Parts: sequence; structure tokens; C-alpha cells
Amino acid sequence: MSAVDASRLVLGIETSCDETAAAVVRGGRAVLSNIIASQHDLHEEYRGVVPEIASRAHAERVLPVVRRALADAGIAQRDLHAVAVGNRPGLIGSLLVGVGAAKGLAWALGVPVVGVDHVQAHLVAGSIGPAGDEPEPARWPALGLVVSGGHTSMYVCDSPTRAERIGATIDDAVGEAYDKVATILGLPFPGGPALDRLARTGRAHRPGFPLARIAPDSLDFSFSGLKTAALYAFRGVPESPQARARREARGEPEHGPMMIAADVAATFQEAAASAVVLKVERALDRHPACRVLLVGGGVSANSLLRERLLVLGAARGVDVRLPRMEYCLDNAAMVAALGHEVLAARGWRGDAWSMTASPSIAFHGSAQAGAA
Ligand code: KG4
Ligand code: ZN
Repeated sequence: MSAVDASRLVLGIETSCDETAAAVVRGGRAVLSNIIASQHDLHEEYRGVVPEIASRAHAERVLPVVRRALADAGIAQRDLHAVAVGNRPGLIGSLLVGVGAAKGLAWALGVPVVGVDHVQAHLVAGSIGPAGDEPEPARWPALGLVVSGGHTSMYVCDSPTRAERIGATIDDAVGEAYDKVATILGLPFPGGPALDRLARTGRAHRPGFPLARIAPDSLDFSFSGLKTAALYAFRGVPESPQARARREARGEPEHGPMMIAADVAATFQEAAASAVVLKVERALDRHPACRVLLVGGGVSANSLLRERLLVLGAARGVDVRLPRMEYCLDNAAMVAALGHEVLAARGWRGDAWSMTASPSIAFHGSAQAGAA
């Protein structure tokens, strides 16, 4: 990266789901500000994100959030060298709000705008830090692991902007399974952090919930069976009419002993972390040139998963890049950082003004695709 790049300021904007976020990042690594306006209170009563409510809230908040990000960074709009926006994948109405704001600002300031992939942005979250406390740049190739509410995937990354997907969930994302099990246990939305806290007060039963291995050499994930195991452990296994008749004839009560919520949480958390670590180990075996593990996504905030990945890294001599807590969940600092890398790789040529949002394209190739 050239000296000029190191001083460049990129504004990031993130509106893919239920966080309206803006951040200013210098040189692709030093976070000068990181503002996140969460909408959790608006979606809580529905126990999930309501797209129409999300996009309206983004429209109200995006410019105030950008203004705060500039003020916190102590810079003026005219100091910016580029604007980056998460433009895929996500809720289309929400993404369009961020894309519209980013294009409007970049147009007015006469600077390039770049749309980046939200999932790929999670992979740079472990390589950014507050100004003066940035991590060392990662070495390549690196293995990438994204564990979030919408995605659970692994990548072999040749650079911050080039990655190939080598595995993904075939059903639920791990964060989605966390949220669904939390709902079963009656925990507040979003369930992941609440389940993480509850699990620390419980005891993981042995043998635990079954891990989906899929096939001996598979790098894919599956979490829906784990969710069902947690449901049955908490509420009991549904009975067929015949089994019910036999049980009633024996005069037995409806359910055997159920696990208490804290033990379900601990047993689920243990299985979820083990399932992720199992596939990461397989991927490291398959790709021995990868001596760095880049981790990102909301579930990278999980206490047990962090612990397990660090143990794995220490045992294998792999540099595990866990994001600081503030960069685990959706944020715009990671978007600005990836935007910087994409622009630097393209000689600071922005996207065409026709750049727009895409709801469903999760990346599995180069972040430079889509260049103007
Ligand atoms: O990356 P993110 O903010 O949004 C997506 O891109 O999906 O991830 C949100 C997900 C939610 O499912 C949330 O419950 C989960 O991350 N999460 C956690 C924890 N903190 C957030 N899951 C487990 N343990 C946590 N501590
Ligand atoms: Zn995310």
C-alpha cells in the first residue's frame, strides 16, 4: 500500500439489515469513528427484522448517523477521499437507502463511490482497530470464516479483495440457529448475546447434541438439526398417537425429565462451537498454506467460539484474527476498510453511477467484480 493510501479517508455506510451505521477509516485500517444506530427496539415485538420498518428507519437515520461519524472523526465532508457502501447481500429496501445516501454524498463531493459485499466486509473486521491501535496487516493466503445471522461460510483468501468460497451452511446460519433457540428458551431478541450469557450459568450435558458432519470431507455446515435437538431437549420429543397410547397405558407422565433452559443453552453453545471448529480444522488440513484465520460476523462475539478458535490457533500455530467486539456485529468500519482495499486495487477508480443494491449475491469470488 502506498504512503498516499495510508492517509486516505474513506466513509463507510452500512444499512443491509437492522443497523444503520457509518464510519470513517484512514488507510484502510485505522478507525477514526464507528457509529451504529441499532433498530433492535423496533423489531423486538416481532422477534425478527421487519423489512418495511427497517428501510423506513434507515431513511430517517442514515444522514444523522453519517454526520455523527464525520464529527466523531473530527473531519469535514470535503476531507473524504471516497465513500464505500455495503450494497449486497441484504434486505433490498434497506440496502437501497444506504446506496442512495452513498451515491448522493460521493456525487456532491466529487469522490469515487464503491459498493462492497457485506459478507466479505466481515472478513476484514479483525484487521482494523482504533487509530493508533490497529492490528498488523494479515498475511496471505488466509482462511476466512464468516459466522453471522445470515451467513456461515469459509473462504480461502489470496488478498483482502480476492477470496474463494470453500464451504457454507446448507440450511440455517449459525446466528439464525442461536436466535431460534433463544426464542424457544424465551430469551429477549436478538437472542445470540442472551443465549451466550445464559449458557455460562448452565452445564453442557454429555453426550451433547449431535454435530452435523455431513460427509467425512465436507466443509459445509448444517445447524437446523441442532436447533431441533434443543427444542426437543427443552419441550420434549413430540409423540406419535401410538406412542402416546402406549405411554398412557403404562400410566407414565407426558414428558420425561426436560433440560433446564441454562443447560439447553450450554449444551447448544458447546455443540455450535464444536461444529464450527470441526470444519475450520478440516479446512486448515485441506489448505495448509493458510497460516492466518480471519473471523467475522455477529457470532464471532460469542465467548465460547472465541475461546475455542484461539485454542485451535495456538495448537496449530495459526494467527487467529478475532475482531474487537465493536467490529463483530454489523458496522460500517469494516465496509470502509474493504472499500479502501477494493479502490486501492483498482487505482481508486470508483463504481459506475449505475451501481445499485443486490439482495442475494453472497460473494464467492473477487470483490473487484463490478468495477466500472
Ligand atoms: O453479523 P451480524 O450483526 O448480522 C448479519 O450479518 O447477519 O450477526 C447477527 C447475529 C445474530 O444472529 C445474533 O444473535 C448473533 O449474531 N450474535 C451472537 C452473539 N452476538 C451476536 N451469537 C452468539 N453469541 C453472541 N455473543
Ligand atoms: Zn453481518
